[in-house]
Amino acid sequence: MSNRISRMIKPATGRTVMLACDHGYFMGPTRKLENPRRTIEPLIPYADTLAVTRGVLRTSVDPKWDTPILLRVSGGASILKDDLSDEEITTSMREAIRLNVASVALSIFVGTAHEKQSLVNLSKLVDEGEDYGIPVMAITAVGKELEKRDAKYLSLACRLAAELGARVVKTYYCENFSKVADGAPVPLVVAGGPKLNTEEDAFNLVYNALEEGAVGVDMGRNIWQNDNPVAMIKAIRAIVHEKATVKEAIQVFNESKKVDKQAIDTTVRD
Ligand code: 5RP
Repeated sequence: MSNRISRMIKPATGRTVMLACDHGYFMGPTRKLENPRRTIEPLIPYADTLAVTRGVLRTSVDPKWDTPILLRVSGGASILKDDLSDEEITTSMREAIRLNVASVALSIFVGTAHEKQSLVNLSKLVDEGEDYGIPVMAITAVGKELEKRDAKYLSLACRLAAELGARVVKTYYCENFSKVADGAPVPLVVAGGPKLNTEEDAFNLVYNALEEGAVGVDMGRNIWQNDNPVAMIKAIRAIVHEKATVKEAIQVFNESKKVDKQAIDTTVRD
């Protein structure tokens, strides 16, 4: 269990940059993740962990890549439904072990029609994970109700997840995030949510989340929906692992943009 967690949350810094690419399980071919391999491959050298479903793992992830896998194992609803909370466990622990993953992840939907179902899903998954040394990450999902992302709601949801045995919790950054972190006795990572207006907004989110107690990010759209995804993940790595400020992250982003463009131009010439 500790070894698997250490593969994701790097012992050298106690932090992690998880790359979230599991959106298709309910959103379908999300913008810029239409072809998962094309999106994932350039980013993989900079990701401490890759979050995907088994379908994307099977079709779009090279088994020679040694990035630890965080396997999304819940599902059952699609973006066409108003209520996204009606999820079950969709991938067995046996399959997760066969796929040699570092961790499994599921969403919980506190305060929804399917609250109990999702919390029991978590508890059962934790029972199985503990049997085999596979850490479970709970995701405090808000479905379409993005306005739920406040400290009162998220501290409740994160604490429930930790109490039921999640080894890591993924949540959202919010005002007074330190209240959320203080109340959850397990490592927290933050999602980015829908793409923010500017790179600086995304860097601020990451910087503030870490300052207020998160151990890293599990971020998707703010990385791969950016026109310069590699520069974006490099800049986020600088904040997470090198304690870069937002200003320094912007410099890393601008510098990487130039280098990446030169590399593409050279490849095109070749
Ligand atoms: C999809 C998820 C995503 O992994 C999570 O929301 C992180 O991605 P993003 O930064 O794009 O919000 O759980 O269901």
